[in-house]
Amino acid sequence: MFRIAVLVSGGGTNLQAIMDAIEQKKITDTEIAVVISNNADAYALTRAKNAGIATKCVSRKEIPDRDAYDAALLSAVDEAKVDLVVLAGFLVVIPEAMIRAYRNRIINIHPSLIPSFCGTGYYGLKVHEAALKRGVKVSGATVHFVDEGTDTGPILLQKAVEVKEDDTPEILQRRIMEEAEWILLPQAIQLLAHQSRES
Ligand code: GRF
Repeated sequence: MFRIAVLVSGGGTNLQAIMDAIEQKKITDTEIAVVISNNADAYALTRAKNAGIATKCVSRKEIPDRDAYDAALLSAVDEAKVDLVVLAGFLVVIPEAMIRAYRNRIINIHPSLIPSFCGTGYYGLKVHEAALKRGVKVSGATVHFVDEGTDTGPILLQKAVEVKEDDTPEILQRRIMEEAEWILLPQAIQLLAHQSRES
């Protein structure tokens, strides 16, 4: 079994897409060992608990010291003994020690076609606001490996999504989730799960 940890901060629709893909056997021989959140109120944790998946909250509020927080996050991931760490809307900067320990084993989903609309400050609706402001006709999503930079790691998969005339940031965000993110992230996991078995 290929074991993954999914790190979340919010609603968890990408987590749901992964859980559904496992259920529908679009992702095979893979299990979610743990869902970790920085936010105790994240609905993503409820989704995981309802599905009988182990959860853990590593909260900045409870561990305000940055080094202590980074160590707690890394040990939460280490304890789960996973092959892959999946960032699915996780809003905490990944500690460098974790990036080193899990080199090429952490992936993130970003809601634009990198290198557009990415890097520091581009998260959530801000990404889509910037895309609409620039007037791009195509946006999309990217799954990439996580390195020391912000959205700078090697690109694994991308999918383009049309931007429409009357789009608001919220409408574009939703279309990119439905047409790209929820498809791409499960695909990336399936790809890596099976690559790992062949190597
Ligand atoms: C997604 O748009 C993802 O690309 C971004 O954060 C959002 C998470 O949404 N990084 P959800 O929690 O998976 O619903």
